[in-house]
Amino acid sequence: MVVLELVLGLALGLLIICCGLLKWNEVRYKKKGLPPGTMGWPVFGETTQFLKQGPDFMKKQRARYGDLFKTHMLGSPTVICLDPELNRYILMNEGKGLVPGYPKSMQDLMGKWNISCVHGALHKSERSAMLSRIGPNMVKERLMSEFDEFMRTHLSSWSGKVIDIQAKTEELWLLSTLKQIVGIRDDVTTKELKSELMNLVIGTLSLPINFPGTNYHRGFQARRKIVSILEKIIKERKASPSSQDDMLNSLLRGDDATETKFSDEQIIDLVITMVYSGFETVSTTTMMTIKYLYDHPRALEEIRNEQFAIRNRKSPEEKLDWNDYKSMNFTRAVIFETLRLATVVNGVLRQTTKDVELKGYVIPKGWRIYVYTREINYDPSMYPQPLDFNPWRWLDNSMESHQHFLVFGGGGRLCPGKELGIVEVSTFLHHFVTKYRWEEVGSTKLLKFPRVEAPNGLHIRIWDY
Ligand code: HEM
Repeated sequence: MVVLELVLGLALGLLIICCGLLKWNEVRYKKKGLPPGTMGWPVFGETTQFLKQGPDFMKKQRARYGDLFKTHMLGSPTVICLDPELNRYILMNEGKGLVPGYPKSMQDLMGKWNISCVHGALHKSERSAMLSRIGPNMVKERLMSEFDEFMRTHLSSWSGKVIDIQAKTEELWLLSTLKQIVGIRDDVTTKELKSELMNLVIGTLSLPINFPGTNYHRGFQARRKIVSILEKIIKERKASPSSQDDMLNSLLRGDDATETKFSDEQIIDLVITMVYSGFETVSTTTMMTIKYLYDHPRALEEIRNEQFAIRNRKSPEEKLDWNDYKSMNFTRAVIFETLRLATVVNGVLRQTTKDVELKGYVIPKGWRIYVYTREINYDPSMYPQPLDFNPWRWLDNSMESHQHFLVFGGGGRLCPGKELGIVEVSTFLHHFVTKYRWEEVGSTKLLKFPRVEAPNGLHIRIWDY
C-alpha cells in the first residue's frame, strides 16, 4: 500500500513538473502579435516531434493553427510558414531583415564561412566565386564533357551484377564531386570522406548537444577529420610546382578581375559547402529516378526513346554536348517529377534581423522562420492527382517557372548548382537507360523524411540492354 502511494506520489510529482516546464516555455515566448502555436519543452521545444513525425507534425499543427504558426525546434523559437505566397515573399526579401538562419548545429558543422552563414558583400563574392565554377556557363563549356567521360568509365561494367543503387549513386557522385572540386581520385580518401560526410549530414539535422554518442558530436568529429584532410591537400598544393586544373586551384589562385582572394579557412568552408550541397541532393535524386522509372514502365519507355534518339545521331565515342542536353525534355520532366515527389530539401531557414511583420503578425528579432516548401509539391490545385508519378505534367514549360515552384529555393539564394545537378542526373540516365535493363531485387523500404533514403538499400539486378 505504502509502495503504491509512493509510486502514485512520484507520478503526480512528475506530471506537475512536466506541466510546469511546458507552461514555462509557453509563458517565456508569450508576446503580443505572435502567430498561434505551441513551444514544447524548454531547450528541446518540439524538435523530437518534428524530426519523428515530419510532414504529419506540419499537417497537424497547420490544421490547428493555420499556415503560419510558432514552435520551438532545433534550439530556437521558430515560425513555420506553409503559405506559398508568403514563402516566396520571404525568399525574395533578404534585404528586409529575412537573412538565412540555419541552426547552430549546421553553422558549427559547416563552418562560419559557409555561404549560408554570410550575408551582404561577402555572400556576393562567395556566390560569384561558386557560380564561376559550377554555374551554367562552366557546365556548358567544360563540366558536361567531364561528366560524360566519368559515366562512361564508371558505368561500364555493371552488367550481370546485383548492386545497391543507393550506395552506388552515393559513391559515384561523391567521387565525381571530389574529383571536380579538389581533384581527389583515389578510392581510399573517397571512402574515408564518404562516411565522415554522412555523419556531417546527420549531425546538421540534430540538436547541438555535444555529448559522446549524440549525432551532433559525431558530426563535429567528422568535420574535424574532413578539415584536416583538406588542410593537407591545400598544403601539398601550395608546395607543388605543378598546378592541377580543378576548382580548388582556382579558389587558391583567387580572381584578379574582382580582386577576390579567400583565406584557406574560407576555402575549406566553401569546399565543404559545395560537396555537402551537391553530393547528397544529386545522389538521392538519381536513386529515386531509377526507382520511379522501374515502377512506371511507360515513363521508362519514353525516356529510353528520347535517349536513344540522341545516341543514334552520334558515334559511339562521341560525348554528350549542351545541345543534346537541351533536347532532353522528357528526361528533365522525369527529374522534376522525382524532385517533387521525393523532396530532398523540405524547406529553408531564415532568421529575422529585426522585428518583421508577416500577415499581420510580428515576428520578433532573432526568431527563425522555416520556409516549409514541401507541402506545395502536393497541392492538387497546382499538381492534379498530386500523389501520382506523372512526368508528362512538366512538359508544359510554364510549370518550371511557376512562382510557387521553390524546389531550388528563390531570390538571391536560388541554388547555384541547379543546372549542374540536373545535368549530372541527366548524364547518368543517358548512359544507364541506353546501356542497361534492370529489375528490383526483394522489397525496398523507402523513407522520405527527414532524409529521402532506403534504410536497407535499393538492390537491383542489372543486365545489358
Ligand atoms: C537536386 C539537386 C539540388 C537541390 C534540390 C538543391 C536545392 C537547393 C535549395 C532549396 C537551396 C536554397 C537554400 C536557401 O535558400 O537557404 C540551395 C542552395 C544552394 N545550393 Fe543547391 N540544390 C541542389 C543541387 C546543388 C548542387 C549540385 C550544388 C553544388 C555543387 C548546390 C549548391 C548550393 C549552394 C552553394 C547553395 C547556397 C546558395 C546561397 O546561399 O547563395 N546545390 N540548393
